Amino acid sequence: MRTPMIAGNWKMNTTVSEAIELVREMRQGLDKIDNVDKVICPPFISLVAVGELIKGSSIKLGAQNIYFEGKGAYTGEISPLMLVDLCEFVIIGHSERRQYFNENGGIVNKKVRAALAVGLKPILCVGERLEENEAGRTKEILIEQLKASSARIYYLSGMIIAYEPVWAIGTGRAATGEQANETISLIRRNIARLYSDGLAQDMRILYGGSVTAANTTEFMKQPEIDGALVGGASLKATEFLSIVTQTSAIK
Ligand code: PGA
Repeated sequence: MRTPMIAGNWKMNTTVSEAIELVREMRQGLDKIDNVDKVICPPFISLVAVGELIKGSSIKLGAQNIYFEGKGAYTGEISPLMLVDLCEFVIIGHSERRQYFNENGGIVNKKVRAALAVGLKPILCVGERLEENEAGRTKEILIEQLKASSARIYYLSGMIIAYEPVWAIGTGRAATGEQANETISLIRRNIARLYSDGLAQDMRILYGGSVTAANTTEFMKQPEIDGALVGGASLKATEFLSIVTQTSAIK
């Protein structure tokens, strides 16, 4: 059985003191729910403070990005080795990184390899753009992204995939539960093809893109959807808690 997961991607929001405040608001409620993995991904500069606040609780920590080199002259970058002591997960290949920071399949692949090499669990984001969706190219794009991201990786230990159609991110226009379920099933079949049935069955695949407390049920009642990667709604303590609570009741 796959443990459901709800991950909150705070993106470039919250100062350190706001991050502390937000964690204080949600910490107790989240900690009580034990059949869902709850992951929060604040900005880098808040990881240490948030990590201290959730110590001893069941809440887990993730970073939003990494660089693929271990150390050296890469001004402004954060290496996997710096993160591994602080957090368990790292979001890689988010569409905003692909779009605004020119991260292509090759870079995403290097980051996934670098994360796995130190024992960080990647939350690998894949998803098609609106024009690709409208042109009926979703399947082709996803297969291409999966192949590129996993090239020369022989075992995706602990990896999580988030299917995030780019047209649904931050737009308020979520996919339907059925659409997401169908696409996630396609992703799972391709993981089975690239790796093995067993790995595909064990791998958690999340949906992301305008998930809110109001549409959580629609997604979580789908058998292929193992949870959600939540952006905007993860910045509101009560709404994020409601998403996790509903997931706990359904899954
Ligand atoms: P959103 O973002 O929930 O604000 O649409 C999701 C994401 O980018 O992971």
